[in-house]
Amino acid sequence: MTELSMTKNTNAHKKLWATIFLIWTAAFTGVTLVYNRQHLSQWQNAFEPQETHERSYSVDEFTRGVDILPIHSHNDYWRKVPFWDAYKIGVKSVEADIWYYADGKDLPRKLSEDKNFDMNEIYVGHTSKFLNASKTLNSLYLDHIWGLLENSNSYDWSNSSIKNGVFYDDPHETLFLFLDVKRAAAGTFERLPEYLDRFIKKGYLSYYNLEKNIGYSGPLTLILTGGIPEISYIDKNVEKLYTFLDAPLNSFMLVNNNANTTYDSDLEKYQVYSKVASGALEGIISDNPTVFNNTKILDTGDFTEVEMKYLKAGFKPFTENAKAQLFYSRIWELPAWPRYKRDKIWRSLIEAGVGLLNVDDLASASMF
Ligand SMILES: *[C@@H]1O[C@H](CO)[C@@H](O)[C@H](O)[C@H]1NC(C)=O
Ligand SMILES: *[C@@H]1O[C@H](CO)[C@@H](O)[C@H](O)[C@H]1NC(C)=O
Ligand SMILES: *[C@@H]1O[C@H](CO)[C@@H](O)[C@H](O)[C@H]1NC(C)=O
Ligand SMILES: *[C@@H]1O[C@H](CO)[C@@H](O)[C@H](O)[C@H]1NC(C)=O
Repeated sequence: MTELSMTKNTNAHKKLWATIFLIWTAAFTGVTLVYNRQHLSQWQNAFEPQETHERSYSVDEFTRGVDILPIHSHNDYWRKVPFWDAYKIGVKSVEADIWYYADGKDLPRKLSEDKNFDMNEIYVGHTSKFLNASKTLNSLYLDHIWGLLENSNSYDWSNSSIKNGVFYDDPHETLFLFLDVKRAAAGTFERLPEYLDRFIKKGYLSYYNLEKNIGYSGPLTLILTGGIPEISYIDKNVEKLYTFLDAPLNSFMLVNNNANTTYDSDLEKYQVYSKVASGALEGIISDNPTVFNNTKILDTGDFTEVEMKYLKAGFKPFTENAKAQLFYSRIWELPAWPRYKRDKIWRSLIEAGVGLLNVDDLASASMF
């Protein structure tokens, strides 16, 4: 009898302790989860655009200790948080597709029916059907960059004759903003200076004075790509060029390698009117069959020695020749998959000295 009740007692004790243990574990896990979730969401919100408005754009908060990467954030406006996702990891160049409808033609229905639509605004989006009246060049890009530049130039350590940029550790590094002009090329080009006025007045924008033949490298450098104006038009109408033109990289590479088959006189002018020359990898390969005779490059990711030599020579001389001081090469249309081939190609291009790698997958590229 005693023995039996003892066993019962022990069992009851065990059950009690087990219950207490379970309750304690559950409570602890619950508290930890709730705490972590709050913590995590605070961290995630740190990069939401509306939050950053309230947080008064602090360049040191975002880019202190962040290396600047030779990466171009392709279709940047598609990212969860446009501009900020790229900027916070030190990406040097971002891209926005822009749409301007002041001529009133081909207005996408959804946009024109939006009560906030304004014909004088420049909108950002990949296709016209998906444009949204709240997503403008100012709201997605220029306002944020402006906020950072105002912050960066507000500190005592800034030397007022040299404007600071958006990267805390290297304040004289310029940020590239590519504007891919999707329609109304001439109209957009004429509209932009007014849009950029506040940056121009503060000396934040790189420009080239065509009358005096002097370039100025500011913290923000705008590159027009897609619908870019004719050089002859610029020559006639522009004194100071605030939006540089994306130059044809392939042609420069041919000239630089003394394979001067497609030389044209605009190339010389591009060295003034441009700061970046861009080309598709496939185009560079297919236009130079004698050099790139290795038909499997894109499959294997392996460049031969001869090919690497061509790339190196092709990318290198721009800084020496260009009057516009900086001249970057940008390679786009890079294979994205499989990753190990993509990585091999990235590695080879970086080794050859490419200025900007066109990248969709920022997370992988930043770890590279
Ligand atoms: C435009 O974007 C805003 C913000 O993301 C969103 O709330 C709104 O629903 C969008 N409007 C349309 C018409 O898609
Ligand atoms: C600011 O920069 C100018 C131009 O480089 C230089 O001459 C001047 O000494 C600098 N001033 C200070 C306070 O660093
Ligand atoms: C390219 O061709 C042009 C026109 O024929 C010539 O003036 C120029 O010197 C050539 N450049 C090179 C690097 O061969
Ligand atoms: C490609 O060109 C290089 C250098 O001209 C040559 O040595 C090599 O044999 C060529 N390869 C093929 C597959 O034609």
